[in-house]
Amino acid sequence: MMNYFERTQKAFEHYKATPDALILGIESSCDETAAAVLRGGREVFSMAVHTQIPIHRLYGGVVPEIASRSHTERITAVVEEALEKAGVGLPDIGAIAVTCAPGLIGALLVGVSFAKGLALAADKPLIGVNHIEGHIAANYLTYPDLEPPFMCLVASGGHSHIVLVKDYDEFELIGRTRDDAAGEAFDKVARALGLPYPGGPEVEKLAESGNARAYPLHTPFNSDLSVYDFSFSGIKTAVVNLMHNAQQKGDEPNRADIAASFQHSVVETLTMKSVQAALDRGMGTLALAGGVSANKALRERLQRECDKRGLRFCRPDMRFCTDNAAMIACQGHYRLLKDQRSDLDLNPSAESFLSR
Ligand SMILES: Nc1ncnc2c1ncn2[C@@H]1O[C@H](COP(=O)(O)OP(=O)(O)OP(=O)(O)O)[C@@H](O)[C@H]1O
Ligand SMILES: [Mg+2]
Repeated sequence: MMNYFERTQKAFEHYKATPDALILGIESSCDETAAAVLRGGREVFSMAVHTQIPIHRLYGGVVPEIASRSHTERITAVVEEALEKAGVGLPDIGAIAVTCAPGLIGALLVGVSFAKGLALAADKPLIGVNHIEGHIAANYLTYPDLEPPFMCLVASGGHSHIVLVKDYDEFELIGRTRDDAAGEAFDKVARALGLPYPGGPEVEKLAESGNARAYPLHTPFNSDLSVYDFSFSGIKTAVVNLMHNAQQKGDEPNRADIAASFQHSVVETLTMKSVQAALDRGMGTLALAGGVSANKALRERLQRECDKRGLRFCRPDMRFCTDNAAMIACQGHYRLLKDQRSDLDLNPSAESFLSR
């Protein structure tokens, strides 16, 4: 009797040879349970997302045990919703892609186990996808003509990397944060300013009415363009200290000015270092990815700098910026076309993306 892997070999070959094949993506690495159906790897037929933000907001951040349990409760309904919105059933799906790293291990286990169950029950080929590669692939969904190589700035809740995307499945780490990720710094600064989780959009909103030059929060390390790495923990701590000192003196600091100054510093650092990296490596395109790519100040600043320096700038549509399954399905599609697939021993990993 043939085992799962042998049984699905034909379906795998068929997927690779069929330009308009459908792929189902599943994402459960953190606090969003998501599913999506794509045709031909780039055309989004449907997306379904259940966000846990209101649950975790009560605790000021993501509680891993609660996240896993919520994924378990919701995943069936979310996958059914994605299939229904696409007007297809499981038999119509050509392959299944699922996030297998990095992320919260209990949360990842839910998505991976569910995807394996579906793949086994329906005899579909399966591919485990790296979540950060998925964030990068969000750009393929937005720009039908975009192809590697290009430089990519990944700024998310857990990662801040400058990555050279050499091919759909080949990446080189050019620079990274030495401490906090950009999104993490936004979340921590938001907490210091008394704003709810997740902090990025809240800080952005508050910053709109603030003066970005009120507090000089720049560091020499972040201004040094000969180093591609950056550091956000210093400026985050500076904001926390500003708030503490003011409270001790009974002062009411201008929170909008602090938010604007912090955002300005992060945006300048990310923009100048990633543009420099793209130019130094001879890339004509700089892309942006990860949850922080939803930040309008960052999008606008990168666009301006890229225009000035003769680079094409790409950033995901807003709906593909934070965690979603369309980006996972897209990256899974390209891994499958590179002749890669997973077996039923696929085991998730909390490990970070591209360490050095
Ligand atoms: N408009 C915004 N401005 C700044 N930051 C934002 C904005 N919107 C979202 N973020 C930040 O993006 C992060 C969420 O992004 P994402 O969902 O990609 O992270 P994650 O999946 O938790 O982490 P990772 O992708 O590294 O595993 C949060 O830190 C959030 O504060
Ligand atoms: Mg993410």
